[in-house]
Amino acid sequence: MKGIILAGGLGTRLAPLTKITNKHLLAVYDKPMIFYPIETLINAGITDIMIVTGGNHAGDFLRLMGNGKEFGLKHINYTYQEGEGGIADALSLAEYFADGEPICVVLGDNIIEKNIIKAVYDFKKQGKGAKILLKEVPDPERFGVAEIEQGKLVNIIEKPKQPRSNLAVIGIYMYDERVFDIVKTLKPSDRGELEITDVNNAYVKEGTMSWEMLDGWWTDAGTFESLLRASVLVSQTGANNK
Ligand code: G1P
Repeated sequence: MKGIILAGGLGTRLAPLTKITNKHLLAVYDKPMIFYPIETLINAGITDIMIVTGGNHAGDFLRLMGNGKEFGLKHINYTYQEGEGGIADALSLAEYFADGEPICVVLGDNIIEKNIIKAVYDFKKQGKGAKILLKEVPDPERFGVAEIEQGKLVNIIEKPKQPRSNLAVIGIYMYDERVFDIVKTLKPSDRGELEITDVNNAYVKEGTMSWEMLDGWWTDAGTFESLLRASVLVSQTGANNK
């Protein structure tokens, strides 16, 4: 299984912090944000990793991480997203890297307290389709929200005004090799982006999307409030604990 970290975007919600650097290079407590998703993958045994970045500061990722020696890696792959096509568009850049293998995609601003070891193990056993992880949140309208009926995932709605549950779809996704064909069928959403939620709903419709609840805290770090919360949480318990 290969790992893909999506770390592009303009980070407009964090301006002016993101005027002279990429969001994922900002500090979360004592480390650059991008270190956390890398550790999430490595903890789960995924060491073949590609970072998709973009914007004006892409070279800084290479300066910061090089070949990943600090993480015990021999090599990190990088690719560059031109323009602002959204998460699913960024993902499509990793098709060549994935080379027919299943993938675990982590959004570069998602940080977890514990690990995804069980979910990765379960997905490998599942063999086909996709898997998402859910977490109860007080503010589901900020996220993709899962609708579960009698234990069955029936739909995901991106940032619903009136959420039907408090279950956020966190930014860690597992897909089989068909994900890249699904991305090619997508049309831009109202915000002009190819949405990861549309990718996920394609698997839901097909009946091959599984889900698990995430253990431990989860946060994104793409707004001032969540960036601060991420630093506080990491300072209290650490992140990526096994
Ligand atoms: C993205 C996804 C959303 C998901 C969230 C997790 O939102 O579109 O479904 O719940 O990441 O962090 P964005 O951060 O792009 O608004």
